[in-house]
Amino acid sequence: MFWSISLLALAPAVLACPDHTRSSRSLVSRATGAKDWNYTDPSSWGSIKPEYAICSSGTMQSPIDLPANNFSNTHAPTFKYSATVAGELTNWGYGPSFALNETNGKDYSGNPSFTADGTTYYLIAWHTHTPSEHEISGTSYPAELHLVHGTSSGTVAGVIGIPLTASSISSPFFEQFLGSVPSTTSESHVELDEVYMGLALCEAGNLESYWTYKGSLTTPACTEGLRWWVSGTPMGLSKRQMSKLKGVSGFSSRGVQKIIAQALSV
Ligand SMILES: *[C@@H]1O[C@H](CO)[C@@H](O)[C@H](O)[C@H]1NC(C)=O
Ligand SMILES: *[C@@H]1O[C@H](CO)[C@@H](O)[C@H](O)[C@H]1NC(C)=O
Ligand SMILES: *[C@@H]1O[C@H](CO)[C@@H](O)[C@H](O)[C@H]1NC(C)=O
Ligand SMILES: [Zn+2]
Repeated sequence: MFWSISLLALAPAVLACPDHTRSSRSLVSRATGAKDWNYTDPSSWGSIKPEYAICSSGTMQSPIDLPANNFSNTHAPTFKYSATVAGELTNWGYGPSFALNETNGKDYSGNPSFTADGTTYYLIAWHTHTPSEHEISGTSYPAELHLVHGTSSGTVAGVIGIPLTASSISSPFFEQFLGSVPSTTSESHVELDEVYMGLALCEAGNLESYWTYKGSLTTPACTEGLRWWVSGTPMGLSKRQMSKLKGVSGFSSRGVQKIIAQALSV
């Protein structure tokens, strides 16, 4: 009895999500620039060069530790995430990374989006970090998905963070591309012409519970002024998917930052 109840408790978010399988892919290769920073000592990023100074001197740095069960109820996002998107899958050196095409050929205004406080944020890219960057009352998850949103012209303005956890059920969102992710040392670019982003949202309980605060990019140049929404519902990956993800990932968690002016809205 207990066994079937606990399975049911994990099931609803995924089972309620619509079906989707991507249609085709092709491989292109292109050189990418080497990074001048790494995860050996993130606390020293600020001294690598002047453009990264805010990594050390900033007052609204991300990620942060979030209070378990004490969710936000302001700045609520309303999603329009039904379209499938085309884009380029690469490995950013530490895990999968996907850059969306501009769906209407000139800007991102035709892309999946969400609106909060009257501002619309368009999806421009996503990637993962291993382990999670945000912590929940001191606990980290095995990984975290970042859905990077911006203005219609592509200036980053808001990021959705979704903790990734091990589950008995596989993630239909990750199943769309997990078999195509290049290795951490590869410079391959894989074109995917149909990725359904609505699954990511659905598998995170549609962000019905979330934390939101004003923070920064979690990698250099640590740019501040963007708003974070972190899902209170983690997305589940099966054991097979999680080990596949870890196989194409490297340690990429900055570590939680001191709370100075991040102003968590609860
Ligand atoms: C990591 O970055 C630092 C600072 O830029 C550099 O001094 C160091 O050599 C790098 N380490 C590796 C393993 O690349
Ligand atoms: C939740 O947040 C409110 C407002 O910051 C705070 O007063 C309260 O103590 C928090 N509760 C818990 C359980 O952390
Ligand atoms: C997406 O953009 C790439 C690079 O510009 C292009 O080669 C590809 O055809 C585009 N895919 C679609 C479906 O528009
Ligand atoms: Zn990130």
